[in-house]
Amino acid sequence: MSYQINTYDSPESTARAVANLIVSMAVEKAGQNQFLHIAVSGGSTPKLLFTLLAEEYEHAVLWKNVKLFWVDERCVPPVHAESNYGMTYDAMLRKPLIPAENVFRMKGEDFPADEAARYEKVLREQLPAQNAYPVFDLILLGMGDDGHTASIFPNQMDLLDVEPAVDVATHPQSGQKRITLTGNTIKNAQKVAFLITGKSKAEVLKQIISRQEVAARYPASHVWAVDGTALFYLDNEAAALL
Ligand code: 6PG
Repeated sequence: MSYQINTYDSPESTARAVANLIVSMAVEKAGQNQFLHIAVSGGSTPKLLFTLLAEEYEHAVLWKNVKLFWVDERCVPPVHAESNYGMTYDAMLRKPLIPAENVFRMKGEDFPADEAARYEKVLREQLPAQNAYPVFDLILLGMGDDGHTASIFPNQMDLLDVEPAVDVATHPQSGQKRITLTGNTIKNAQKVAFLITGKSKAEVLKQIISRQEVAARYPASHVWAVDGTALFYLDNEAAALL
């Protein structure tokens, strides 16, 4: 696989670069009268991006041409403080940018195995398929300090290769159940972009980008787009050791 590294001087400029990527893809798709199918991650990093999109990019995108999905979701209700959907709603979706019928949240409040199956069905209804898996135009990933991505944790590497497109994961420390896209779905995307900021990610990122042997234990080193490329949008702190 190949890495395309983009580094910026602050979390804000990093988020803006990703916003501009989304805009360019959305404009291209709108020009072809097609939907942009994008899956977003949760956690804290993307909150800045979502806020920026809501506050400064309202008119930059034909948002009605965007269909929004999630990479993963904590198995909690949408109003729970840990809900990825809840975070995205507060930061962006509270503004009616994307028509509600084009927002496809994972239902963290439902039984995990049932929701994973339901969400896979939704993906297969909504997205084109190639290689027997749904095809996203863009999957936006983060990376944990332990090198996890989506909700694929270092102690559950099998989720990189399991047959389902969506599966159930378990947080290694808290035991919290998660719904997550699996590795085969992520690796079927047209573009995979990591948005990573902060010095706590620098060491793991260096090990991944320099393809050190130890990186094999990190799920984030095992995913890329269908063409073998992974895009990295990093602030200076996360990129400090590169
Ligand atoms: C989640 C995310 C997860 C996240 C990383 C980084 O549900 O937590 O999808 O994969 O991207 O944990 O999280 P931070 O952005 O909070 O560092």
